[in-house]
This record gives sequence, C-alpha cells and structure tokens, in this order.
Amino acid sequence: MFYRITKIVILMSFSFFLMNASYAVESKTTVKSPAIKKATTTGFMQEMTEIRVHEGPDRSGKEVYEYRCKGCHGKNTQGAPMPDDKFEWSMRLRNKGMDTLLKHSMEGFNNYLMPPKGGCRNCNQKEVYAAVYYMMETSGIKLKKSDKK
Ligand code: HEC
Repeated sequence: MFYRITKIVILMSFSFFLMNASYAVESKTTVKSPAIKKATTTGFMQEMTEIRVHEGPDRSGKEVYEYRCKGCHGKNTQGAPMPDDKFEWSMRLRNKGMDTLLKHSMEGFNNYLMPPKGGCRNCNQKEVYAAVYYMMETSGIKLKKSDKK
C-alpha cells in the first residue's frame, strides 16, 4: 500500500515537472518555434492543461469512454473499475448509490486518482454521465430510468 502511494506521488511530481518545464520553454520564447510545438505531448496531459471547446453535438457515452475514460478504466489503472466488471460496478452502486457515483465522475474521487470529469475537461455533464452509464451497462447492469439523470 505504502509503496503504491509512493509510486503515485513520484509519478505525479514527475508529470508536474514535465508540465512546468514545457511552460517555461513556451514562455521564454517570443516566436513559437515549430520544433518546440512538436516536442510538447498530445493527449491526456495536454488536455488537462489546455481546454479545447468541443463543437458539435454531444458525444455518446461510448465516444467519451474511448476518448478519455478508457485510458484508465480500460486496464484497471490504480483500481479504476473496468467496463466489463459487473461485480465491481454493482458493489459501488449498492454501497454508494448512483448519485454519489455521478458526483464523483464530475468532481473526481480519492485524491484525484479518479480525476474530475475523468480528465475530459471539454465534456459537459451529460457527456460524462453518459460515459458512466456506458461503463455500467456494458458490465451487464440494467440501469433503471430513475438512475439516469
Ligand atoms: C487517470 C485515470 C482515470 C481516468 C482517465 C478516468 N478514471 Fe474514473 N476512476 C479512476 C480510478 C483510479 C477510480 C477508482 C477510484 C477508487 O475507487 O479509489 C475511478 C472510479 C470511477 C468511478 C467510480 C467512483 C466511485 O465513487 O466509486 C466512476 C463513476 C468513474 N471513475 C467514471 C469515469 C469516467 C466517466 C471517466 C471518463 C470520462 C473516467 N472515470 C476516467 C481513474 C480514472
């Protein structure tokens, strides 16, 4: 357990170090060099710092899941419940209730191991909720109409 927490702390400090390092490079250069632009990462960390507004109709639960949630939930990273894990999702549903699960999906949970909006900063609430329903329903849970907000 202690080892796991230490590992997370080290990983997090390293990512913040990387983020700060790229800020420092960007802010010192007046002309944006394509080489520097190319060197910055794309994907999760970039999305966390730079919000691009999503245009167009709301994405489906599956799309949001594949876009963001899958990164962790697809391989049980730090214990993120997998979309085919009926046992795990049923336990969470029974112990916490749907309202809490949805709240945690928007606000984050457990020291941001589960990040706010699952890291999908340009998702609206409906899209994040749809991704939660998607994971639970693919696990085989039959959600009631009243479960869906
Ligand atoms: C950076 C990794 C990561 C990403 C990305 C991520 N999650 Fe999670 N999520 C977790 C972890 C880890 C947990 C389990 C936390 C625990 O139980 O301690 C979790 C748990 C949850 C839970 C259950 C919360 C509870 O109270 O039991 C929901 C709901 C959830 N995630 C939804 C989502 C959705 C929706 C997305 C995509 C929009 C997403 N997550 C993306 C890591 C992630």
